Amino acid sequence: MLLYKHSYYISLALFFCFCSITFIQCVDRSNFKSCDQSSFCRRNRKYKPDVSPYSVDLSSMKTITDGHLQFTMMNTQNSVKFQLDLFTLEHNSLRMKINELQPIKKRYEVQNVLVNEPKLVSVTTSILDGNQLEGRFGKTSRFLLVSNPFRLDLFTNDNIFVMSVNSKQLFNFEHYRKKQSSDGETPLHDEDGMWEETFKTHTDSKPHGPSSIGIDVSFPNFENVYGIPEHADSFVLKSTHDTDPYRFFNVDVFEYDIQNPMALYGSVPYILAHNEQASVGFFWLNAAEGWVDISNDKLNTKNLLSTIKNFFGSTKVQNEVPEITTHWMFESGIFDGFFFLGPTPKDVFKQYGLITGTTPLPPIWALAYHQCRWNYNDEDDIKNVNAGFEHNMIPMDVLWLDIEHTNGKRYFTWDTSKFPDPEKMQHDIGMYGRKMVTISDPHIKKDDGYQVYADAKSRRYFVQNKDGSDYEGWCWPGSSMWLDYLNPEIFDWYSNRYSYANYKGSTSNLFLWNDMNEPSVFNGPEVTFPKDVVHFGDLENRDVHNIYGMLQHMATFKGLFDRSGGQERPFVLTRSFFAGSQKTSAVWTGDNAAEWSHLKMAVPMLLSLSVTGITFVGADVGGFFRNPDAKLLVRWYQAASFQPFFREHAHIDTARREPWLFGDDNTRLIRQAIETRYSYLPYWYTLFYKQEKQAVPAMLPLWAIFPHDTQTFKIEDSFMIGNGLLVHPITDADVTEVSIYLPGDNTIWYDIRTFVPHNSSQTALITVDMESIPVYQRGGTIIPQRLRKRRSSMLALNDPITLVVALDKNNEAKGELYMDDGHTYDYKKNRQFIYRRFLFKNNELKSRYDPSSKFDTSAWIERIIIIGYPKNPNKVSINSGEQTAIPLHSYHDQQKLLIIRRPGPSVSTDWTLTIS
Ligand code: NOJ
Repeated sequence: MLLYKHSYYISLALFFCFCSITFIQCVDRSNFKSCDQSSFCRRNRKYKPDVSPYSVDLSSMKTITDGHLQFTMMNTQNSVKFQLDLFTLEHNSLRMKINELQPIKKRYEVQNVLVNEPKLVSVTTSILDGNQLEGRFGKTSRFLLVSNPFRLDLFTNDNIFVMSVNSKQLFNFEHYRKKQSSDGETPLHDEDGMWEETFKTHTDSKPHGPSSIGIDVSFPNFENVYGIPEHADSFVLKSTHDTDPYRFFNVDVFEYDIQNPMALYGSVPYILAHNEQASVGFFWLNAAEGWVDISNDKLNTKNLLSTIKNFFGSTKVQNEVPEITTHWMFESGIFDGFFFLGPTPKDVFKQYGLITGTTPLPPIWALAYHQCRWNYNDEDDIKNVNAGFEHNMIPMDVLWLDIEHTNGKRYFTWDTSKFPDPEKMQHDIGMYGRKMVTISDPHIKKDDGYQVYADAKSRRYFVQNKDGSDYEGWCWPGSSMWLDYLNPEIFDWYSNRYSYANYKGSTSNLFLWNDMNEPSVFNGPEVTFPKDVVHFGDLENRDVHNIYGMLQHMATFKGLFDRSGGQERPFVLTRSFFAGSQKTSAVWTGDNAAEWSHLKMAVPMLLSLSVTGITFVGADVGGFFRNPDAKLLVRWYQAASFQPFFREHAHIDTARREPWLFGDDNTRLIRQAIETRYSYLPYWYTLFYKQEKQAVPAMLPLWAIFPHDTQTFKIEDSFMIGNGLLVHPITDADVTEVSIYLPGDNTIWYDIRTFVPHNSSQTALITVDMESIPVYQRGGTIIPQRLRKRRSSMLALNDPITLVVALDKNNEAKGELYMDDGHTYDYKKNRQFIYRRFLFKNNELKSRYDPSSKFDTSAWIERIIIIGYPKNPNKVSINSGEQTAIPLHSYHDQQKLLIIRRPGPSVSTDWTLTIS
């Protein structure tokens, strides 16, 4: 047995090496199920009744509280009864839950995701005819619940029909049942893998039988849907007519392929639809394996019920409108759907954020540049890499240590031959204003001499087989076991491993990285847990699979929070995630490759994560597998310098690729890209603060800012950072020109390097060279920057600010600046922050703030650059309180650029700049 395990491990390792040495694309799709190999997916995809057997008894309606209505529902074919609950929620949202009325086993309802119990708003109902109930809630939201067959229609802004549930009659709820009883009364029906399923060498025993739920949600009048990460695929979701459905099942896919709907490391079962009239969303809170089919249909408005036709009548006269139908299938759990009725993109972001939470403001250094590789070998290596950044004058904030820093992949330990004094190492790096991150994976090495293992084993803290023994599998350390974070006691115990007392050699300068947490099990079915392993509360992994990784990183976050007594903001990076992961972690897109296609794919992948609430996201710079050439590496730095999480990382078999190893010219280009990132840190930080408050992601699709510009709906090679910067990274080798669509109505876009203006509603042909990062500031915005060069962000906290005022066609602009101490919770506890609003209008630039906030800073306004200013002014004066000063200014006629030097006011005071 031992031999077998070893040879398995060795062959796996050889397979990994073979792929990386020979540079071949190696994803082995046969390791992962297709829909056809997943019996519940197969059954649901086949399910096409002539008429849906589900019917809601409207006369059973009970008002539990105002805003919560309850009904009984029945499958008329087998008389199984269900309970249907409707909750009308604040901010134009509706929740519908459907569960078995009397299940023989309690079905799992996902915990740890919702921020609070969502707030109800009152609902007014009326029966329209015997078969339909109309409900009105909020200012302009409505639903129509149709009794037989069951259907739910949703309307926003009074009369815009936006979503319909079960209009395609695919609702299919497999109730729990007994396997064939001894008297033979309950028929055994197993031809579809209902009670057992084998995939490759693994057999999934299904002790509780079939339990899947399928449902269709249609988006009438929409042609584009987005979201449902994580897939290495386009941002606009594709029809799955000729492919597998998009899959949710957190797995570690070795050398993942791009442009396909295979599952990856994380899942957010949330889809958004956008058209000129509205943005809406549907979120199904379910942690089991899931699949989503997408089809582009036509909706015949003639055939609609008269009640719905009216809702179209006022806006559309044609008989057919486009429609997207999504067919969702989960293996177990309940139906717990949230419908967000927008109607603007910002409303939808907020509605989803209210339910699952937002990303808390990260420490500012986490938004700066990170340097990682598998592995930095020892303390000298770390010292030399740090010195390399110093010598080459390249800013950097964080140095990372991968698995080899541990004693034999025993997390919370150090390989003391290589890292004899980790505390000193962290302290030395800290002297440069820099931080460190170590990795901590969820597999625990099976070794009685390893205290974490021995302690957890004696407490029976590991995930178990269905016979009650500890589940054992293979990962980096060899034979391993996995903690069961579902048990609150184990969650807390694990958090506590991060205390300074337990994690020896860690200091307040050390932060964390959770990897392999899908979890990755090298010898498990589909490289993960068997579905029939058992978690706390007698839950099968089948029910909770997709939240396992999230629970680990939540516990890590708590550990870091607790170790500072709740003073310091933690930083945790995770590979696996679920809806709500944003509340505690940044996410990266895992093991990409040093290929131009992977550089390009990063944008749609990051956008899909952003719009589904996972906003602190990035992709490994340079590509994880294989060696990028200098050009690809430079372009990757340039692109990622405008993406939220900015980290270079590489596989252990790759050549070293620190920024100075590619010749002076490339070092300069990489330095420039990183410096550009640092110059915009005040803007990033402000956006992340706003994100925490309002749930609008920092990285956005163009349509989120220009919701009426139909040309933007399919764009995935450009994106916005806030509402001020449009970024079009260069993702092809050897290009000298790029076409960039500049959105908006009468908007001016200024090149951030040359200040050259471009008009909107056109595709501009832009000439580029290796220096170019095509980024445009939108006329009408004011962006704060720090232009002094520093080695790390924490050393720049009090540096002066430059304001870049880009004027619109009316010579106006506005913007904001958020500032605080960069790392503690004082901004929340004591309002220790500054939130400035800047407004340029009628030749005056004003800085005003929220008087209830307070923060002392010596930062001041060093420069104001006004782009698009029409003429050289006679005089510029600035008044802050009692004082008026006349700062120097210069005007650059050709660029229409007015530069005001050292205007001087403190960032914390009110001031007005007047130009005459
Ligand atoms: C897999 C991760 O995706 C990668 O980033 C990491 O370097 C390796 N595991 C080793 O820890």
